[in-house]
Amino acid sequence: MTERSRSSRPRRPHPPRRRTGPVRPPAVDPARQAALDTLRAVRQRDAYANLVLPGLLRDRRITGRDAALATELAYGTARAQGLLDAVLAACSDRPLSEVDGAVLDALRLGAYQLLRTRIPPHAAVASTVDLVRAELGSGAAGFANAVLRRVTGQDEAGWVEEVAPDEETDPVGYLAMAHAHPRWVAQAFAEALGSRGEPLRSALAADDARPAVHLAARPGECSADELAAMTGGDVAPYSPYGVHLEAGDPGDLEPVRERLAAVQDEGSQLCALALTRAPLDGPDERWLDLCAGPGGKAALLGALAAVSGAEVDAVEKAPHRAELVRKSVTGLPVTVRVADGRDSGLPPGGYDRVLVDAPCTGLGALRRRPEARWRRQPSDVAPLARLQRELLTAALDLVRPGGVVAYVVCSPHLAETVGVVADVARRTGAERLDTRGCFPDVPDLGAGPHVQLWPHLHGTDAMFCALLRRPA
Ligand SMILES: C[S@@+](CC[C@H](N)C(=O)[O-])C[C@H]1O[C@@H](n2cnc3c(N)ncnc32)[C@H](O)[C@@H]1O
Repeated sequence: MTERSRSSRPRRPHPPRRRTGPVRPPAVDPARQAALDTLRAVRQRDAYANLVLPGLLRDRRITGRDAALATELAYGTARAQGLLDAVLAACSDRPLSEVDGAVLDALRLGAYQLLRTRIPPHAAVASTVDLVRAELGSGAAGFANAVLRRVTGQDEAGWVEEVAPDEETDPVGYLAMAHAHPRWVAQAFAEALGSRGEPLRSALAADDARPAVHLAARPGECSADELAAMTGGDVAPYSPYGVHLEAGDPGDLEPVRERLAAVQDEGSQLCALALTRAPLDGPDERWLDLCAGPGGKAALLGALAAVSGAEVDAVEKAPHRAELVRKSVTGLPVTVRVADGRDSGLPPGGYDRVLVDAPCTGLGALRRRPEARWRRQPSDVAPLARLQRELLTAALDLVRPGGVVAYVVCSPHLAETVGVVADVARRTGAERLDTRGCFPDVPDLGAGPHVQLWPHLHGTDAMFCALLRRPA
């Protein structure tokens, strides 16, 4: 089988057949086609599902329930890929590596519907086989039909028991399969949680679910109560600026278009706020965001600086991301510079507060990036940890004696979190502050001195934050 047309336009359904019985529904429905085309873009072009799908929905004028179905199927299938592939491999008479990529995309989409949705099995199989037939002909459709019929033999729990490692002897491998995470990611979570039992199960399960949309009201412009009233959302439990929405495209919301609010995980809001809440003696006017793109935290810091009379410098290495920062901080007291944070040319000791929101594996934000967990590799960690150490060291040079640095990553991987902080604190003599005090009313913050947030405990991304003070 070979891959055929890769057009992103919807396929034309089969010409209607002459038949005397009840009329057959259209062979290919637009929601499933959009989901399938998204999965293909992810596989072929390394695209991001959450950037591709909204464009397809807009171009094809897919709205309402169809858009919701396409989103559930595309993101859910991308997220569950490892589990789906293990099940499909058990149901296929040939290795998945020998199955044509376009057929495999459709099989994953079909298996997702069978295992993780309430779509009736006959509809899940028939609609998937129709997609394959429309694009790849009846030979491929017959193969897809045979594989998916075998998938219908058990529900998700039954398949997990069959394809996952033994729970007794390999609890991490078992939970990784059950909650659709690569084993090394589950292992990193286990090490950060200090658990291979219930906490790990809860963390992986929460990371395997569709996240709520989080908004941040812009300080000085709009309160969380007002934003909740405007959007129909709920005021967030911990961030004074946060609002949660169950679902929907936040780009459509008027307060976001009017820049009264931005899309930002509540954990990210809390980490930016922690920098501003850290106790500080002396002047408090010059703030620095050393890794600012695309500008979520720079905008929150800029709005807080506007209220308190401070000024913010925002550094970003990638010019196109610096441009995004500029757009997000329009009208705020923020100056954006394109520079490498390790060698920024900014004045040593020139800042009262510095944020290092360092580039990282993003293992803490996997819920929001459906395909990311299958793309990241263990070999990504060491070079990032090196860069993180260099950026944190530079930040401690740029903050004044007695000033505060917040080191933040959206990853719970110990090599990127406590490993970096302990090493840099030891080499620079920086004092590690009890960060938990700057996360007021947030429960389950552990033994400190750093803070590790978790989706299953806090409903946020798994953000890490450590506050350090440069010795006076
Ligand atoms: C985790 S993101 C920051 C997110 C941002 N603070 C926000 O809230 O929107 C890390 C950023 O650091 C940038 N970066 C990577 N290496 C850098 C370096 N050496 N100096 C400065 N920025 C860097 C990346 O391009 C990326 O935009």
